[in-house]
Amino acid sequence: MSWKRVCKATDVPENTLKKFWVDGIALIVLNYGSGLRAIPPVCPHMEEPLEESGVIANCTLTCTKHLWSWDLRSLDKLGETERPLGTYEVKRDGDDVMAFVDREIVYEFDNEDDMSDDDFFKKD
Ligand code: FES
Repeated sequence: MSWKRVCKATDVPENTLKKFWVDGIALIVLNYGSGLRAIPPVCPHMEEPLEESGVIANCTLTCTKHLWSWDLRSLDKLGETERPLGTYEVKRDGDDVMAFVDREIVYEFDNEDDMSDDDFFKKD
């Protein structure tokens, strides 16, 4: 894969984020005012869908689930945040937002809390 058109720049207003699909790969485009980022669709902490839990303010992305946050200009981890954000290279091409998607970025998560309430009551 290579540079792929993701959306129109106007699809993601300033200080918002939105999920898109590119060749079967989900990603989120963030507009933090002075730039754009493209990232995987889930929080690297506990897989929360950032489309729902992510908030952008002052060039910072915060996952509201447990308040991990990242500076979207430098990609520095802020506060108690322990893991970096994965990013796809992104650029504007006229009115379009393009992302370089050569592979899907997937975080590894611990399986300790794998058992959901549904699993607990599941019978074989
Ligand atoms: S799931 Fe995002 S901060 Fe915990």
